This record gives sequence, C-alpha cells and structure tokens, in this order.
Amino acid sequence: MSDSAARVLIVMAMEAEAEPITAALRLAETTGPSDLPCRWYRGAADHLDVLVAVNGVDARFDVDSIGTVPAALNTYAAIQAFNPDLVISAGTAGAWHRDGSVVGDVFLSGVSFVNHDRRIELRGFDAYGVGSHPGIQTRDLADRLGFKVGIVTTSNSLDETPHDAERIEASGAAVKEMEAAGVAYVAEQAGVPMMAIKAITDLVDDPAPTPQQFIDNLSVATELLAEAVVAVLLELDEETFTST
Ligand code: ADE
Repeated sequence: MSDSAARVLIVMAMEAEAEPITAALRLAETTGPSDLPCRWYRGAADHLDVLVAVNGVDARFDVDSIGTVPAALNTYAAIQAFNPDLVISAGTAGAWHRDGSVVGDVFLSGVSFVNHDRRIELRGFDAYGVGSHPGIQTRDLADRLGFKVGIVTTSNSLDETPHDAERIEASGAAVKEMEAAGVAYVAEQAGVPMMAIKAITDLVDDPAPTPQQFIDNLSVATELLAEAVVAVLLELDEETFTST
C-alpha cells in the first residue's frame, strides 16, 4: 500500500458486526485510544488504507458500546489519529414495510444525517437538534452495486415512540439506527466527507417486536453488511469522496 493511498475510516458499534469485515479484509488489530474501550483494526483493502474502529465493550455493563456518545468519541479519536479522507458509519438498522423495505436490504446513506429524538422547541435549537449533517452523494455507487439509498435517522433508543414516528415521517428517513448522526456530527466538525452503509435487521412497522426481529436476523444481516462494505470499498474512488 502506497503512502498516498486514500484513507477510509469505518466506525462500527458491535464486535459481531465488525468481525466478518475485519476477517474478510484481513485487518490487523492496532493500538486504539488507551482511555476508551474502542478496538481498532487496520490494513490495505485494494487501493485503500482502511481503519475499522469499533466502539468496544463497556467495562461496567459487559455489552457493546452502542449509541451516539461512544460512536462520537471513537470517531473523534480515530479522525485525530488516522486523518481519513472518508468516514463510513457501518452497521445494522431498522427500516419500514411502508417503504417496501425487507430484512437484508442494504442501504447507502442519503445526503443528510438526522436525529429524531432531539426535540428542542426553542428558536434555532430545533434545527440544531435535528442536525441534518451532510453526507456525500451515494446514488451512483448504490446503482452500480444494487443497493438502496435512504436518509438515515438516529436516536439512542431501539424502539420508536409516537413522537419519534412523527419526526421520522417529517424527515423522510428510511433507515433507523443508533450511531450515524453522532459519527456525522464529528465528521462535519472535522470537514471529512461522510457516508453510511446499513443492513436491515428489522422492520419497525412489523407486528413482531423489534428486539426479537433484531436477534433473529442479526447474523444474516451482518453477513450481508460485510459483503456490502467490501463491495463499496472496491468501488470507491476520489470522485465519490468529494461528491457532495
Ligand atoms: N439497529 C437495528 N435495528 C434498529 C432499530 N429498529 N432502531 C435502532 N437501531 C437499530
């Protein structure tokens, strides 16, 4: 890998989601921040220098550190250390029957990343709460690879309250998860282009409870996510990074 290889940072929340990717790319574990549980894996993927930064296991609760705060901290530390040309938030997510989505769909992110649980009804702060952090254009990439494109909406909850549902409908989001807007906030502050790759484990408007769908479909979605991440990496070029 040349010194001038483009650097791609992939931020992930769960070890189980990351393992098939680090294995497929034969990435080696590298030193992450000493004061966070993050685990980082680095190596060459074709023409790219790739760092997969996993949020890590919470020392007190012994579960993966999901949610926006660990994702933002991990992203900040990884941008400082790795100086990426592109940040990708990769993981599993929910979607909706009403949009024609099915379990196993792979989505690339739309041109903004929004929050649906930051309700701040004060002038100026309402838009700040939603975020609308920029994402790169992924339509061409998605068409070439046969993936869908949708706005990704983030909160720190797996469920969807009636308030969430209203705000999600208003934003036009098609993908619901728990990290991307936190990652996108940091990428925006640092001026680094941002996108997401999300594989669907559950349908929010299905009668089956979301946690059960998530558990039942995690393994299949994780395999599809790994294939999608590798396919995107092979297809990425300079033009994609800068297409805002
Ligand atoms: N991750 C997977 N499915 C999800 C959902 N429905 N909401 C939030 N995060 C998720």
